[in-house]
Amino acid sequence: MHKTIKDIEEMKGKEKITVLTGYDSTMAALCEQVDVILVGDSAGMVMLGYEDTTSVTMDDMIRFTTAVKNARKNSLIVSDLPINSYNTKEDAITNSLKLIEAGADAVKLEGGKEIAQIIKAITELKIPVMGHLGLLPQTAKKYTVQGKTKEDAIELIKDAKIITESGVFSIVLEMISSQVAKIITEKIPVPTIGIGSGKDCDGQVLVVHDMLGLFEKIKPKFAKRYLSLSEEIRNAVKSYVMEVKEKKFPAIENEFQMDESEYNKMRKEIV
Ligand code: KIV
Repeated sequence: MHKTIKDIEEMKGKEKITVLTGYDSTMAALCEQVDVILVGDSAGMVMLGYEDTTSVTMDDMIRFTTAVKNARKNSLIVSDLPINSYNTKEDAITNSLKLIEAGADAVKLEGGKEIAQIIKAITELKIPVMGHLGLLPQTAKKYTVQGKTKEDAIELIKDAKIITESGVFSIVLEMISSQVAKIITEKIPVPTIGIGSGKDCDGQVLVVHDMLGLFEKIKPKFAKRYLSLSEEIRNAVKSYVMEVKEKKFPAIENEFQMDESEYNKMRKEIV
């Protein structure tokens, strides 16, 4: 049985929540130890090669969600509603249902008080929603730390309270100064999941391509690398190319042989 929303809610204050992004079956199977797999619209950059998340469509998110669902064993699946898929309550509900049908257990969307009514409309239908405050990649002009001034910090804390009242079961806090993330975490009853927001959040999320050292275009300082997979892949590709060129691959153990008597009979016929 996989993790449920209730399991994640009950971890607040007891055990840190682990979240990694996932977009395909192979990676989802390898990441089965995490509490939550987030099918993030960061897929736009790490899977589809766009500059940012703003070109990602509902069809993309449905496809990635299905792939993760096909491999999921233990983790809860949360899928991002992409930009422009929740501009109205009707769109938000229709598109949330599509992601749930594709295999998500919950949806995530970005914003504070301005989307409180949208969140309420989705949660009233018993579709679990994860919020996302701080740096909002779908609309941000620049990737800068949020909550650095008194005014910003107070707005973020207010937003966290408002979307909690709208029914979110947890909130991603992206690139928020650690002190503000700590206050939000203490002031709201639902778990906070930090990315670049310090150690006091109830959980942490990283883009899986960042933590494996697979994505080389951007290297934010919060994205700790646990592996240098891109280097390993390049070395493997180099060896493969060399071995094929030098006729070292395939070797005899990589081949399939015909039975010798069949082979001899066939040779007689074709000469
Ligand atoms: O799309 C994504 O991967 C995200 C995380 C960075 C939180 O929203």
